[in-house]
Amino acid sequence: MLRIAPLFLMFLTFFSCKTEKKEVENQTKEQTPISLKNAFADDFYVGAAINSSHINKTDTLGLNLVTKEYNTITPENIMKWMYLHPAKDTFFFDEADAYVNLGLENDMHIVGHTLVWHSQIADWMNTIKDSTEMATIIKHHVKTIVSRYKGKIDSWDVVNEALNEDGSFRTSLLYNVMGDSYLEIAFTEAAKADPEASLVYNDYNLWKPEKREGVVRLVKKLQAKGVKIDGIGMQGHYSIPGPTLKDIEDSIEAFAALGVKVMFTELDITALPNPWELDGAAVEQDYSTYEGDITMNPYADGMNDSINKALSVRYKDLFSLFLKHKEAISRVTFWGVTDRETWLNDWPINGRTNYPLLFDRAYQPKDAYHEIIALKQNN
Ligand code: XIL
Repeated sequence: MLRIAPLFLMFLTFFSCKTEKKEVENQTKEQTPISLKNAFADDFYVGAAINSSHINKTDTLGLNLVTKEYNTITPENIMKWMYLHPAKDTFFFDEADAYVNLGLENDMHIVGHTLVWHSQIADWMNTIKDSTEMATIIKHHVKTIVSRYKGKIDSWDVVNEALNEDGSFRTSLLYNVMGDSYLEIAFTEAAKADPEASLVYNDYNLWKPEKREGVVRLVKKLQAKGVKIDGIGMQGHYSIPGPTLKDIEDSIEAFAALGVKVMFTELDITALPNPWELDGAAVEQDYSTYEGDITMNPYADGMNDSINKALSVRYKDLFSLFLKHKEAISRVTFWGVTDRETWLNDWPINGRTNYPLLFDRAYQPKDAYHEIIALKQNN
């Protein structure tokens, strides 16, 4: 009896150690609250575009979601040229400073959006017709902003939407004065002002083969000149039927092959019909004639179950693709926090009721949220 006692004790000790380990594991699992940022912590950053009501803390429920669910933020509007640099010698930094402080307080990966974009640019820029003057202005703009947030803003959308759908350069007010040299100038100046920041080219419809090739040409050209570019932002304004996962995947692979990171920077999935699907018209067209047309706003009184289901499946499929390519993808950011304030309620047609995000108008997680979380919990 005395002989077997030590053996029995060893067995007991071994068994209780194992039980303790299991308990600790379970406790850690239980203590880590369920959230998007925790679910994908080993894969990529997950974030949202935020607006003034989050930054000035008036939308407290929205802000709670931001800090609980996400580990990266993007400013939806407040850092665009027209707000930050409204007159030639005037910069307005109050809101941008508050935005950055919010990110720092919450230990977030902070994105700057966007340094150079033809849209939401200040009116005074339309008067600049000389290429040397334009170059000086772009340098000053980029240098002033990037150096102010050096070491704080982690990633910059340096240039936004420089390409047409066929991959050629968009004839914007910047291109018309400077040709494509403005891209090189913007990236070079940003790299000088904060060598550590990740520098990104951001655009929509990058799943389109011709536009994808345009980005590949653009990045190769910058790289050949020794200009620093670290990532490509695929905006990701999608719908339920399109684009195909294959087209998106082809772009992820093509961009990763350039040696840069891929980011999904403005993800949302419209639940409503888009006018161009009906009449094939150009995206830039004015769709105000559709305002108030109930056929274009079919879920004004509430979401239809089958669309809600289709939205969840679509989000699940997209996140499965992102996980498959997690080595290439560094960040997935939703364009907004809840369906109540998504820009898709007013674009491309004003005054609709859209359902493109993971949280509903009452700040509650939708089925799509649970589907995405389940992808990780079941793996
Ligand atoms: C949108 C904002 O969400 C709207 O509030 C604003 O009225 C227009 O701009 N591509 C971009 C974003 O890079 O900056 C745009 O944001 C959406 C399309």
